[in-house]
Amino acid sequence: MPIIDVDFGDDVVVSHPDLVNLYGCAIGSGSRIGPFVEIQRGSRIGRPCKISSHTLICEGVVLEDEVLMIAHGVVFTNDRMPRAARPEVSREAQAWPREATVVRRGASIGSSATIGCGIEIGTFAVVSCGSVAMRDVPARAVVAGVPACVIGHAGANATAPRLFETVLGETS
Ligand SMILES: CC(C)(COP(=O)(O)OP(=O)(O)OC[C@H]1O[C@@H](n2cnc3c(N)ncnc32)[C@H](O)[C@@H]1OP(=O)(O)O)[C@@H](O)C(=O)NCCC(=O)NCCS
Repeated sequence: MPIIDVDFGDDVVVSHPDLVNLYGCAIGSGSRIGPFVEIQRGSRIGRPCKISSHTLICEGVVLEDEVLMIAHGVVFTNDRMPRAARPEVSREAQAWPREATVVRRGASIGSSATIGCGIEIGTFAVVSCGSVAMRDVPARAVVAGVPACVIGHAGANATAPRLFETVLGETS
């Protein structure tokens, strides 16, 4: 799998460069990218962020600086109403309206979460594992389920202190 036309900051760690698909994106300093990750054209990863294995960051996704963790197998989306490409129609004519998603500073997304199109995951919010987040997630909210609903708050009385400690304490 290739790494093509990627704007890398300093000290970015791609743990298995032969097992990723990164193209046309920007990855901020100190970020760490696991194996089998795809980061598509036009997406931006802040500094430093962690993206775990098997995650798809599609076109138009922005992770602000210090997104604490995008865990394993997280799937972002950018096409609300996907339609199969038709070979008789030109690539330009097939262009679809991509909806951008932003993940704010300090947020975390648990394993196997799916993130809907055109939404904002607020600062220090937590999207729990297996959730399907289809609406904006307020700052410091902890959301879970399908569709994801607020189950707690990650603040002074954080619902998920261990998650934050684990991620912040990591060095590799
Ligand atoms: C969000 C999270 C931190 C919440 O943990 P917590 O504060 O211990 O929450 P609790 O386990 O007390 O759950 C509170 C309620 O939400 C529900 N809930 C928690 N996580 C859920 C999930 N992923 N999906 C659906 N419901 C969930 C619980 O069943 C519980 O409901 P109840 O009160 O009816 O029993 C945790 O569920 C999570 O997803 N962590 C991320 C794990 C992960 O992906 N790590 C990545 C690296 S391995």
